Amino acid sequence: MTAAGPARVIEVDLGERRYPVRIGTGNLARAGAEIARRTGASQAVVLSVPGVARRHAGTLERSLRRAGLRARRIVVPDGDRTKRLEVVERLYGDLLALGADRGTALVALGGGMVGDLAGFTAATFLRGIPFVQVPTTVLAMVDASVGGKVGVNLPQGKNLVGAFHQPRLVWIDVATLRTLPRRERAAGFAEVVKAAALGDASLFARLERDAEALMELDPRRLVPVLGRAIAIKAEIVSRDEREAGARMLLNLGHTLAHAIEALSGYRGILHGEAVAIGMAFSARRSEALGLAPEGTAERVVALLRRFALPTELPRFPREAYLAALRVDKKRRDGYIHYVVLRRIGRAETVPLTAARILPPGRAGVRGRVPRGSSR
Ligand SMILES: NC(=O)c1ccc[n+]([C@@H]2O[C@H](COP(=O)([O-])OP(=O)(O)OC[C@H]3O[C@@H](n4cnc5c(N)ncnc54)[C@H](O)[C@@H]3O)[C@@H](O)[C@H]2O)c1
Ligand SMILES: [Zn+2]
Repeated sequence: MTAAGPARVIEVDLGERRYPVRIGTGNLARAGAEIARRTGASQAVVLSVPGVARRHAGTLERSLRRAGLRARRIVVPDGDRTKRLEVVERLYGDLLALGADRGTALVALGGGMVGDLAGFTAATFLRGIPFVQVPTTVLAMVDASVGGKVGVNLPQGKNLVGAFHQPRLVWIDVATLRTLPRRERAAGFAEVVKAAALGDASLFARLERDAEALMELDPRRLVPVLGRAIAIKAEIVSRDEREAGARMLLNLGHTLAHAIEALSGYRGILHGEAVAIGMAFSARRSEALGLAPEGTAERVVALLRRFALPTELPRFPREAYLAALRVDKKRRDGYIHYVVLRRIGRAETVPLTAARILPPGRAGVRGRVPRGSSR
């Protein structure tokens, strides 16, 4: 037994469907008992991808067995292409072959791709079976695994089919991040910076103090910081489960990010990197519109750069950006609910047209091609 390291519990308060997010270090080997208790299941099916399963599934499954559950494993190919309906249908077949019923819990072990796929499968198989998230990327820990949005992509676009299916438990072991490539780590921290920028100035200051130590995964700093980012999302989601008002603030940086991802054909740029660019853009725009005090954008940009994240718009024609902005899912009557900063730690939405978000002379002029993108 290793000594217990820093740990936190964040409650996601959704009435009857409330659930805890438990975050610690080296705690994967203790997940089983809590999964058993929270799901009441007699069998657990762990869904993962090869790279994550090889490193971490054994530990999780041994812990499930010690807790008296039968543990089975399904491994799907890595990559966001796996998040599609055909794969869901294959998973239904696999689950039936394993004798899965409502007494079976589906446990997502991996990044947001696995979480969304497992969650959507759990939401729909037999009209819903218990679901547990064991996220292993920074992004999945602070964002994808909390809030209950699950779904798959269509050939026509990302995340176009989905459901709300809350997990019974989110179990986070930050030690699993040791094997996560640095670029993926940094991309996840973009969502941590987002949580701080929109909701907590003191978290933002902590990130400014400890960026490098956090990238090195020092658990004493990492657990409280990720815990706080999760709490910000949990608070917003509890207030607004289905995205009417407050939840829109979580889209800070995402309006531009979605446009950048679409224009890049989802190649060469990670979601978090696109979010970093979108956030830097939003912060600059907030200042230019007189909504945020001078110096706000400078702090946002400087912090993102310490995580080696890109902050400049990639070079696409303004018309292409405008067209991409205009297909935004959340657009109404030609207006986009654009998330601006009022200051570090406080965001709000303003209805803006695409042309107002991106006035002439910005895109493709000041822009630079982001690190690692295809030319
Ligand atoms: N449901 C939501 O609210 C929500 C929110 C944000 C993102 N998402 C979804 O999440 C997905 C992106 O999540 P992601 O960034 O975690 O991507 P991902 O799940 O594709 O993981 C990124 C890469 O890291 C690898 N990996 C994961 N954990 C690892 C570990 N511990 N060690 C080594 N390698 C590891 C994966 O195999 C993959 O190659 C997208 O599908 C996105 O749509 C969902
Ligand atoms: Zn995001």
